[in-house]
Amino acid sequence: MFSIFEKITRSALNLIDPYVPSDTPPTDSVWRYIRANLKPMRKAIALSLVLTVIAACIEVWLISYAGKLIDTLAQTTPEKIWQVHGGEFILAALAVLFVRPLSQCARHVVNDISISCNVANLFRWRGHQHLSKQSVGWFQDDLAGRTSVRLVDLGNQASYIIGGLLNAVAFGLVYMIGMIILMAQTDIRLALPLVLWVALYMGIMIRIIPRMVKAQRKFFSAKSALVGNVVDSFSNFDTLKLFSRREDISADHKVSLELTREKLFLSRQISISMNTIVVLLEGLIMVGFIGYGVWLWSVGAGTIGLIGSAVALSLRITSLAEWVLNEVWRIFESVGNLQESLKTVAQPITIPEHRDAKDLVVTGGQITLEGLNHQYGTGRGGLNDVSIKLGAGEKVGLVGRSGAGKSTLVNLILRFYEAEKGTILIDGQDIRTVDQDSLRGAIGMVSQQAALLNRSVYDNIALGKADATLDEIMAAAKKAKADDFIGELKDSKGRTGYDAHVGERGVKLSGGQRQRIALARVFLKNAPILILDEATSALDSEVEAEIQAELQAVMEGKTVIAIAHRLSTIAQMDRILVLEEGQVIEDGSHDELVKQDTRYAGFWKRQSGGFIGADEE
Ligand SMILES: Nc1ncnc2c1ncn2[C@@H]1O[C@H](COP(=O)(O)OP(=O)(O)O)[C@@H](O)[C@H]1O
Ligand SMILES: [Mg+2]
Repeated sequence: MFSIFEKITRSALNLIDPYVPSDTPPTDSVWRYIRANLKPMRKAIALSLVLTVIAACIEVWLISYAGKLIDTLAQTTPEKIWQVHGGEFILAALAVLFVRPLSQCARHVVNDISISCNVANLFRWRGHQHLSKQSVGWFQDDLAGRTSVRLVDLGNQASYIIGGLLNAVAFGLVYMIGMIILMAQTDIRLALPLVLWVALYMGIMIRIIPRMVKAQRKFFSAKSALVGNVVDSFSNFDTLKLFSRREDISADHKVSLELTREKLFLSRQISISMNTIVVLLEGLIMVGFIGYGVWLWSVGAGTIGLIGSAVALSLRITSLAEWVLNEVWRIFESVGNLQESLKTVAQPITIPEHRDAKDLVVTGGQITLEGLNHQYGTGRGGLNDVSIKLGAGEKVGLVGRSGAGKSTLVNLILRFYEAEKGTILIDGQDIRTVDQDSLRGAIGMVSQQAALLNRSVYDNIALGKADATLDEIMAAAKKAKADDFIGELKDSKGRTGYDAHVGERGVKLSGGQRQRIALARVFLKNAPILILDEATSALDSEVEAEIQAELQAVMEGKTVIAIAHRLSTIAQMDRILVLEEGQVIEDGSHDELVKQDTRYAGFWKRQSGGFIGADEE
């Protein structure tokens, strides 16, 4: 018995494949968005509607049968009842005992398993597919924490909406129509007040719903600001503690909380008025319908059975009206929430893949920047008209005060941002026309933050090469002088060495340890172009000196761009570029630039092997 149940429910689960790719990007209009994603659910929805009609018809029949039963009893003598109606009673009993539960069960299997278990993930999966195409710049502009919350939420909301529509609205609609038909058949005089009542109920709903949507949207907007506020303060908790700003933060938090309270209050005002109206309507139908039935009977125009039906019907319809109202309320609650989520998730891809993007082919690794301009849409800062050519296999050091535009330059080469003006060519290919994965696949990058994923050390290094063996990973770690400390790692769950997890963004490691893992990862990747953005800034000079030798070997045959404040690490590069206010102001070898005795020479003198002086920052 159980295995049959298991089999049926399992195949119900597989009726929808939540992972089929979407053929359209998400839109920010809720209804269009939902409609555009219904395709994989079509079969399940059709099945659900058929089962809904069957279930509603059974309910309607049950009520009419109750009325008919009373009439039957009134018209037959007790002695003859079984003889005449026995067969019919047995059929009716069987229907109530078996057909009704079976139809309900089938409807629940489709609604609660086929649809409910899949829809949320279908929307989340598609949202995730879309978001993962967003640029790095896009993610930096929105809070990652809030984006994640919205993505997960979006699935729940879409699921509520579709489930609610199928459950309440479809069922309620079929049920009401069934009732009207039934009443019209038994007595047309009863159908008329019912039609009037349904029209009144619908009219009120239609008037109130837009207000409800507006109130809900405001509430969710406030809620989403609250989430943003909490995400921001919790993800920078150390900074807040450091500056003892707990009270300010609490005050901020309270303001956000108060805003959600106020908006929820407004939305509840509407929901209470709506509920009261519905209860009034219920009173109207009970008094009107039953009273009308009694009056018909008193003037000899109706049977007792008719009144029986009227009583049963009015009781059923009142509970139905309340239930539909609650479901509609929840649907619109979800619509408001989904609209809020879509504001983030449905944004168009900021750096879309070129229409017929080809894979980048690196022949030597020549990088050409032509008239490059990028100021993050602010009109200041960033890069300002940079044109340079880095030869194949050339090792270039990039120097300049902080804020000069060094990171901007490498972020543009990686196409994390789309340059506002100008062109970047790698071996003659415009990076806007090449496949983005192939572009980043050709570049090994270690940055100052060297953020790691909250996975094991092994997984973090293995990011560099999909099919890396443990031996390769260990060899890379050794080159990056990371094997010693990795051997001693132990995380809170007792995992050790390469299996130890590193915490969110690698917080459980020191800055220098993170950088060494990031270096190992790039050594393993062995890409033809290497970008080091303050890659060894967190290492002490002893470890750095050890790594320099390995770095020299890794740089062999690659085009390299190295940014460093510690000039000794780039003095031996083929060529040094000095950036200032987004422009290249000096270009030459270390010796040449020192001889020129201008900006770079000034840096160099001040450093005597150390960093660019603090007064230069
Ligand atoms: N995401 C961003 N949005 C707006 N402005 C930015 C962004 N990133 C950097 N900038 C600005 O661009 C300039 C150059 O920054 P950056 O390239 O990081 O400098 P560097 O790496 O040389 O220290 C700075 O003035 C900085 O304020
Ligand atoms: Mg920088």
